[in-house]
Amino acid sequence: MKKDLYFEYHLRQYKSMYRSTFSLINFLKKRIPDKPYYILDVGCGGGANIYWLKKHFPRWRFLGIDIDREALKIANKMQKRIEGVEFQEINFLKSHFKKKSFDYVFAIQFISSVDFDFPIFLKKALTLAKKGIFLTSLFSEGWLEQYTTAYDIKENWKGVYKIYSLERFKEALRKIGGNVSLEYERFNIDIDLPKPSEPKFGTYTEKTKNGKRLQISGYMLMPWYNILVKIIDEKNKNWQ
Ligand SMILES: C[S@@+](CC[C@H](N)C(=O)[O-])C[C@H]1O[C@@H](n2cnc3c(N)ncnc32)[C@H](O)[C@@H]1O
Repeated sequence: MKKDLYFEYHLRQYKSMYRSTFSLINFLKKRIPDKPYYILDVGCGGGANIYWLKKHFPRWRFLGIDIDREALKIANKMQKRIEGVEFQEINFLKSHFKKKSFDYVFAIQFISSVDFDFPIFLKKALTLAKKGIFLTSLFSEGWLEQYTTAYDIKENWKGVYKIYSLERFKEALRKIGGNVSLEYERFNIDIDLPKPSEPKFGTYTEKTKNGKRLQISGYMLMPWYNILVKIIDEKNKNWQ
């Protein structure tokens, strides 16, 4: 992607909160209290989600990791003096954090964009988290999956979009084991986003007959979900 567009993409998220960020904050507010928790944000990109989360959960501390050095430069520049927020260039798959180093592991729009399968993420995240995993990804509420490789030839950009089966996600959680529970919610966007004049990747919306909106990027539907996997504490049957 051209450098200007790349910076613009990350900085835009700081200027005004995306509706998806608003939705995930509301989802989390109903489920996780603002206690002094330590959160690992995997694939934090330019760090804007952490920026907005910190405003709503001031007692949480964050470590954002990513393999993209340029994105991390933006994260560090934009959040230079925010206490309890740190960014590091670390590949999640090769990371060597001690078991149960974090209260929660977050992965926002991460597993839907990587070339490895989500159980690899789940297994590792479940060893690192004491209380749970929060993620957003593209999902189908059945057994269908669809993986798309997207190219913008003019911008010299290539990306992966994976829609995973929620049923396979539940099955993978059962197989990985441990006492966990799952809560999820589809993200229904509540504003209109204009269709670009020529096909482009980046979300726009189309209204359906029942007044809801479809999110579209390029030629793809974007069924985003917020998901919380809670690790149940066996001793007190309590996860908080
Ligand atoms: C689609 S972006 C999402 C960025 C951010 N979470 C957001 O919501 O704006 C996915 C991010 O995952 C990062 N990533 C991909 N593989 C990774 C890995 N193995 N370890 C850490 N980060 C990775 C990419 O560099 C990219 O910044």
